[in-house]
Amino acid sequence: MQGKRILLGITGGIAAYKIAFLIRMLKKSGAVVRTIMTPASCDFISPLVVSTLSGNPVGIEFWNKQTGVWTNHVEYGLWADVLVIAPLTASTLAKMANGNSDNLLLATYLSMKCPTIVAPAMDLDMYKHPAVKRNLLQLEDDHVLVIPAESGELASGLEGEGRMAEPETIHDAVAAFFKKNKSGRLQGRKVLITAGPTYEAIDPVRFIGNHSSGKMGFEIAKAFLAEGAEVLLVAGPTHQSLVHHRLQQIDVVSAEEMFQAVKSHWESCSIGVFAAAVADYAPKVVATSKLKKSDTDPTIELVKNPDILAWAGANKSKDQYLVGFALETENLVQNGLVKLKKKNLNFIVLNTLADEGAGFSVDTNKITILDECNKQTEFELSSKFKAAENIVEYLINSIQ
Ligand code: C5P
Repeated sequence: MQGKRILLGITGGIAAYKIAFLIRMLKKSGAVVRTIMTPASCDFISPLVVSTLSGNPVGIEFWNKQTGVWTNHVEYGLWADVLVIAPLTASTLAKMANGNSDNLLLATYLSMKCPTIVAPAMDLDMYKHPAVKRNLLQLEDDHVLVIPAESGELASGLEGEGRMAEPETIHDAVAAFFKKNKSGRLQGRKVLITAGPTYEAIDPVRFIGNHSSGKMGFEIAKAFLAEGAEVLLVAGPTHQSLVHHRLQQIDVVSAEEMFQAVKSHWESCSIGVFAAAVADYAPKVVATSKLKKSDTDPTIELVKNPDILAWAGANKSKDQYLVGFALETENLVQNGLVKLKKKNLNFIVLNTLADEGAGFSVDTNKITILDECNKQTEFELSSKFKAAENIVEYLINSIQ
């Protein structure tokens, strides 16, 4: 952590007293620490303690009431390598989740150019409230790293989940963040990702499609980019967008177009993650003009689309690593295992529409990974980005 610039945000919870220890640890590890306190936090720990330990003035208000000088929150955002907010109260969490900016810390959070790490702290009933859970998921979705609260004795005298992670845990999470971010563990690797639905034309205005939003595939692309990989994203029709200097996106509409793009690029990639919801069938004939309404019931003859993933599995070299997805409504594991073998995958990510919060139109997902050694790993319900990070982490551990 030598020389790393850490901006520490402190909010008004009883755990704020522990931040004195955190500042000392970060400084001992060589970090430069600046701090912003919300006005409420000053009731829990003195700004004098915070400024003395950090060796820097504390930012509290938007402007200094004595001198009239404005505090430049944008400068904080440009200065820092990471913003760490600990403790994070339910109130600041809710404001962050909604883009509220009614104090210096929140305005700085919205201006940050670097990642944010938070350590929530609250009473157990608050921590398990659906609104708090929703806000934490929103933060994860906004790519904030959440250090989960721990279980134990709380200031209220109750026992349960909600205690801020210990200063040592927060310190180690920040150290791990810098270690991971140093180079990216997939630097030099090229990843092919398929995402979104495919549309199979019936005539010039109608098509057969599905409800896939493309979000999971795009979040997987982000998680790979965060690890330094080069990403080739073959995307069906979607509203998702992503811009990055290591990302190349090929937009397609039909399964056949997706197949052509994959066939042209698979050989040059070392990892494939196929998250697209490819239509299994397409109309045999595409009408050249809009089909007219008639008094009889029409019939559309369908033909099978190419199984793009199966093709990639059949054309996989020993140095290539291939991951598929399976969305099932029944016999999830059994059907997943069959696909894993049939399509020659290294692992398959299973999700079911039966799980609340998983599936097409929601921002969360609950996944299970089934690998070629028959190992089954279940993950908690999380944001799609967190699920994507879990998939990439699993892959990194598998290829090492
Ligand atoms: O066989 P099933 O469609 O359930 O398999 C799902 C997996 O196969 C997903 O990873 C999906 O992206 C991929 N797939 C494909 N081409 C198809 C059908 C599915 O790449 N035609």
